[in-house]
Amino acid sequence: MSGQARYSNLSITLHWLMLVLLVAVYCLMEFRGYFPRGSEERDAMKHWHYMLGLSVFVLVWIRIAARAIGGVPPITPSPSASCAHAGAAARRARAHTDTDRRTDYSRH
Ligand code: HEM
Repeated sequence: MSGQARYSNLSITLHWLMLVLLVAVYCLMEFRGYFPRGSEERDAMKHWHYMLGLSVFVLVWIRIAARAIGGVPPITPSPSASCAHAGAAARRARAHTDTDRRTDYSRH
């Protein structure tokens, strides 16, 4: 589906939820070192690391489904326009280089 102005509320919510989860998953592992091995806190952090990490995996699939159902807004400027612009710039650069190569510097 296209023609909509923005992402669906579900997609936006899932996007930010994912960010929070990724930060939490990372921090849980990063900060586990503050607690001694075998301590309850350290084990709990590892447990939540696994659980939240797995929920990221589940969310990925929900996000793909939400995208398929809710659609996405068009990219502006459209990639085709940007590509055409980049292509023209590349052609100009190449033409410029070719001109340089054709110059016979031995005559200068
Ligand atoms: C978004 C997902 C995840 C991220 C970004 C992530 C990231 C990390 C990081 C940064 C570490 C620490 C590595 C180190 O200190 O050398 C780690 C360790 C670990 N992660 Fe994950 N992880 C994710 C998901 C998971 C899941 C789903 C599981 C298992 C169900 C898992 C199991 C482990 C284990 C077993 C360790 C080593 C623990 C230890 O050394 O005590 N991770 N992860």
